[in-house]
Parts: sequence; structure tokens; C-alpha cells
Amino acid sequence: MDLSITIAGVRFPSCIMNASGALCVTREELLALGRSHIGAIVTKSMTVEPRDGNPEPRYYGFPGGSINSMGLPNLGYKAYAALIPELKAMGNPVIASVAGLCEDDFLTIAATINAAKPDLIEVNLSCPNIPGKPQIGYDAEASERLLKRVRKVITVPMGVKLPPYFDPAHHTIMGDVIGRCGVDFLNLINSVGNGLVVDPDREEAVIKPKGGFGGLGGTIIKPVALANVRAFWKIFEGRIPIIGTGGVVNGVDAFEHVLCGASAVQIGTVLVEEGLGVFARLEGELVAQLRKKGYTKLEDFRGKLKEL
Ligand code: SIN
Repeated sequence: MDLSITIAGVRFPSCIMNASGALCVTREELLALGRSHIGAIVTKSMTVEPRDGNPEPRYYGFPGGSINSMGLPNLGYKAYAALIPELKAMGNPVIASVAGLCEDDFLTIAATINAAKPDLIEVNLSCPNIPGKPQIGYDAEASERLLKRVRKVITVPMGVKLPPYFDPAHHTIMGDVIGRCGVDFLNLINSVGNGLVVDPDREEAVIKPKGGFGGLGGTIIKPVALANVRAFWKIFEGRIPIIGTGGVVNGVDAFEHVLCGASAVQIGTVLVEEGLGVFARLEGELVAQLRKKGYTKLEDFRGKLKEL
């Protein structure tokens, strides 16, 4: 059974990889990802300066999902630029995730990271967890300006990680932006931002930053993720490859993402909760699902969701 895929000319041995943020901050974590049964290594979203991130507790897993307000803890872009050759030498594609605290940061980081030649660069317009910094992806004008600027310095395939949108009007507006900015792939979705999980016994929020507000992940966000994958797949009629992220905890979840139009899937919550062994489990479950349906490859059903 062939679970390999190609995105923007880059071949991935498997369609399952980590989501930026999950076990991918330090060199040790990235090397461990590279040694595991993974389709690609995705780095933590990097900023100009190294960051410790938000105060702890800042991640909380619960049945059905997770909430996090990590606050972009990362080594700073120079450290990741130095690491990229070592990660690439492990044999799988490397996706460098680029963030920033202001527009110019993205430019600074993109230039150096591009020179380090990761296989792809993912521009993260959707971190919900930096106090006082709204998610850029909810501002179409700012997104377009930023993407056009970074596109000029990025020569490897460039993708964009977007926040979830909840109205078709917003899918259309952002689809138009994406169409004008030379985007090679999309990653949909980042966490559902600014949820609040409450511990009723202690009568308190479960995480500390931002009064308990944080990004939601895991099974509870799967319908939102699938809707965004589907909406953008239809807007571009499958021409821009999509990485589906959100709510993948088993092989059937991955199958559903592909059915809605995803080329690959990324996992966050389940990777944090289960560890690196999850990749082999998910791949086995996805293969079992394909066999059950009589498919031999992902192209047999990608995007072919039936509408009633
Ligand atoms: C974080 O570090 O707070 C999460 C990053 C993201 O959601 O983009």
C-alpha cells in the first residue's frame, strides 16, 4: 500500500507528519522525530529571538482534545537554520515553520531559513497565543502584504498555515489572497484559538496564560478542520495541495481529511499524548482503512467526498 505523496514537487515517504509545535522545539526532539516513522520533520514555528514562551501550565490534555497557550517557545531562527542540514541528512523532507512578532520578523527569518534550504517553508499566520498580537490570518490585507513580501525571498516551496475560518465569506476572501500570493501549499488548520477549559472542582482555568484562553486541538476540532480543508480544496479545485491538521487521532480521521481534499495530515495533540509510536499506529490504521474500502493509494479517494 502506497501512502507516499508529493507536495510542490517534494516527495514524502508517508502522508503523516507532526504538526508544528508538537515535540519539535529542541534539537533532541527534532532528531527523535527524524528517527521515527514519519513523513516529514516539521520544526516549531520560529521567531527572531529564542523564546521561553508563556508561563506554565500552558498545555492541558483532556478526553477529546487539548488546550494550549505555549507562546511560541523556540530556539530562535538562527539555531534552526544551523540544524536544517543535519535534519535533512536524516533522509525525510524538512518543513521549516516560520513565525514572527511583526511583519519584518518574517522577512528576516525567511531569508536566512531559505538559505539553509529546508525542503519547504510553512509561513505561520495563525498563532493565537501571543498576548496582544492578533492572528495575522484573520486580517486579509495584512496577510496579503506579508505573503507577497516573503514570497520574494523564499525560493523553496512556500506554504501558509491558516487559522480556522467559520464563514464561507472568509474562505472566499482568504482564497483570493492565497491565489494572488504564489502559495504552493496550505496547512489547515491551526488550533481553534482562544477557547477556555475550566476545572469545575478547582473553579479555575486549566492553563495559566491569557486568563486561561488558549488554542483548542484534538478530536473536538476535527469537524472545523475538515470544513476548512474542504472549503479551500473546492476554492482551488484541488490545484493547491493541502495538509490537513486538526482532530487526527486515528487512521479513519486521516482518511476523512484526505476524502475532503488533504494530501497529507499533521498531528499535534495525539503526538503529545501518545509519543512517537503514534506514527506507526496511524499508518497501520490508515492502510487498514484503505484495504477495507478497496483503495490502493490516496489518489483513489482524495477530494472525492460525496455531497448529499
Ligand atoms: C504556540 O506556540 O503558542 C502555538 C503556536 C501556534 O499555534 O502557531
